[in-house]
Amino acid sequence: MMILAFSDYLNQAQRLASRLNAPLGEISLHHFPDRESFIRLPLPLPEHVIVCRSLNQPNDKLIELLLCATTARELGAKRLTLVAPYLCYMRQDFANQPGVAVSQRIIGKMLANLFDDVLTVDPHLHRIASLAQAIPIKNAISLSAADEIGRFLKQKLEYAMLLGPDSESEQWVATIASKIGFDYCIAHKKRVGDKQIQMTLPDNKFFNKPIVIIDDMASTGRTLGKAARLLQAAGSKDIYAVVTHALFCGDAEAHSLQAGIKTIWSTDSIDHPTSCIKLDGLLANAIKAII
Ligand code: R5P
Repeated sequence: MMILAFSDYLNQAQRLASRLNAPLGEISLHHFPDRESFIRLPLPLPEHVIVCRSLNQPNDKLIELLLCATTARELGAKRLTLVAPYLCYMRQDFANQPGVAVSQRIIGKMLANLFDDVLTVDPHLHRIASLAQAIPIKNAISLSAADEIGRFLKQKLEYAMLLGPDSESEQWVATIASKIGFDYCIAHKKRVGDKQIQMTLPDNKFFNKPIVIIDDMASTGRTLGKAARLLQAAGSKDIYAVVTHALFCGDAEAHSLQAGIKTIWSTDSIDHPTSCIKLDGLLANAIKAII
């Protein structure tokens, strides 16, 4: 078995490889001036190759995965496992208007054609119950960072009220709260544009309390920003945020901090200055369970 990683996930892959006691190889990647990708795999490859890459900013990365997986097969790999802690294109899970591409199904099928196993963390599954519905293979494995986040929060804070900014976040917030014995509540959110959020908080829960907003991802940061502003208006003490996937596009991080969040923490599913909750233990255990 060998771990192969692209440079944008190399540090995390190194930790994973040492947990699995497996060799690590870096995939060479070059972009030509017209943005075509050139990739080269380290040789020789063993029968089982584990390719690691988080799929934020996914369009180039998906083509590079196609090149990588196809080449690895041609070079003799019999089993290909993808570790993609952040899984892209999960939002569009149905055709809400005629003509809409259901990208979750399309990209899921592409990954299923390339890999024997796909492992990811807290994927954005909304209207489907299991990851295998999006990625139709036996080992489509959806892990949760709830334990890692819970342990981290317990070390950092004696007590805080956890806030999920929308109904979808309840699955993570409730699990974390019950693991560490903190209270939680859920706001009501409506997204009215890429950067426009309407939100209402449940009544009378926040005055003079430390609050941690918990979400699966921060993309534009508008969800965190809106929640933080409402919490400030409700008299919260210190406001923190934890996200599993720190996408933080454009001004997202600055926007969230300006809205009054004291500290943002995230997992290392994506390399980001906020990434301090490590997932290599979770991923290594899941890989051990399937090999
Ligand atoms: C939405 O359902 C997700 O759970 C996140 O709340 C959302 O993707 C965050 O996006 P943004 O940072 O753009 O508000």
